Formats: sequence, C-alpha cells, structure tokens
Amino acid sequence: MTETSQAPAATGTVIEVGHPLVRHKLALLRDVTTTTQMFRQLVNELTLLITYEATKDLATETVDIETPLEWTSAQRISGKKVAVCPILRAGMGMLDGVLSLIPGARVGFIGLYRNEETLQPVEYYVKLPDDLADRDVILLDPMLATGNSTAAAVATVKAAGATSIRLIALIAAPEGISRIHRDHPDVAIVVAAVDRALNEKGYIVPGLGDAGDRLYGTK
Ligand code: URA
Repeated sequence: MTETSQAPAATGTVIEVGHPLVRHKLALLRDVTTTTQMFRQLVNELTLLITYEATKDLATETVDIETPLEWTSAQRISGKKVAVCPILRAGMGMLDGVLSLIPGARVGFIGLYRNEETLQPVEYYVKLPDDLADRDVILLDPMLATGNSTAAAVATVKAAGATSIRLIALIAAPEGISRIHRDHPDVAIVVAAVDRALNEKGYIVPGLGDAGDRLYGTK
C-alpha cells in the first residue's frame, strides 16, 4: 500500500467555499422568510457541501481491489480517523451533514454558554471520544462571530489531546477569524461565506440571525 498524503490542512487560512450550490443555498438560508423546516434542511445540505471541501486534504492510500471484471488499484482514505464535535446547540444542526459523508466518525459534544456579566464562554457539558489524539477533529459551529466560544471549544479539544483540528462554519465574521488565527493558528477554517462585520449585539451582518433559534424555531 502506498501512502499518498496530500498537503496538510491549511494553517492560518480561511477557505471560503464558492461553489454555486453553496452560494445558492446560503442565499435561501439567509432569507428571513425561510421556514424552520427549510432552514434545517439547508443547514444539513450546506454542511455536507462544506465538509466535502474541508476534507479534501485527508490522506489516501493505494489499495488493490478486485472488481467483478479484474484487479485494479484504488484510493482509500488512510491515516487518522475522524471525530466530529458540534458546539451546542446550533452545531447540532450540522452534525448529520458530516455524518452522511463520514458515517464512521465518532462524535463529541461541547456545551458552552455565555456569561452575560463577563461575556466569556462557560462550559456546561463536555463529552468527547477518549482517543482524540489519534483523530482528525472537525468542530461544528454555524456562526463564527466573536470567536470566543469557538476558541474555548478548540482549547477544550486540544486539552483532550487533539492535534489536528478543523472548523466548519456556515458564516464567519472577520473578528471571529482573527480571534481563531490569533489563539489557534493551527486550526483550518472552512466556511460558506465571510460576512462584513459584527453588529453592536454581536450578530454577524448581514448574517442570518440567530442560527439556533432559526434551526429549532425557538423565536
Ligand atoms: N450566533 C448566531 O447564531 N448568529 C450570529 O449572527 C452570531 C452568533
């Protein structure tokens, strides 16, 4: 078997997936008239498309296989296994999109809320696979806004041993990207779009509103 590892995940860079399907679905997702049911489906589909891009550097190996007609060599993913870690609660809306492409992945959960006085993220639930050091970790957080909670989640998986981490988000603000680059330059960020800015309430603009509320119809 020959290892054909491609370039490692981009470090300190942001990959903005510009595929027409992604841009089209993102336009529907942003639309204030999109229903909860449709929003959920779009998040799932967008995550699947972004995952395709986010995993393009996974190492492959050449294996010999027998088709019904003859023996041939083929490519198979080699190396580390994957752990997908949604950041609760909105990250949960992205989980199935990743698992439909990587069904064997292990899943970890990171629950964070924002302390309204300090504005800092507080962990309230963490359950991670115990072999994170041996896995490529994919963090899921639809909105990379200030980056505070995402940076805390990265620190959590690193403390649990993770060394290969990529973040999949739907929309990122420049502020959130800078924060992750500053604190965790080794983390590759893959998004559908980088938006203009954060507003005074910490929402990404133009954005799509509160991803959790729109996913679960809580507002
Ligand atoms: N979280 C969201 O759900 N939306 C934003 O715009 C920012 C953070």
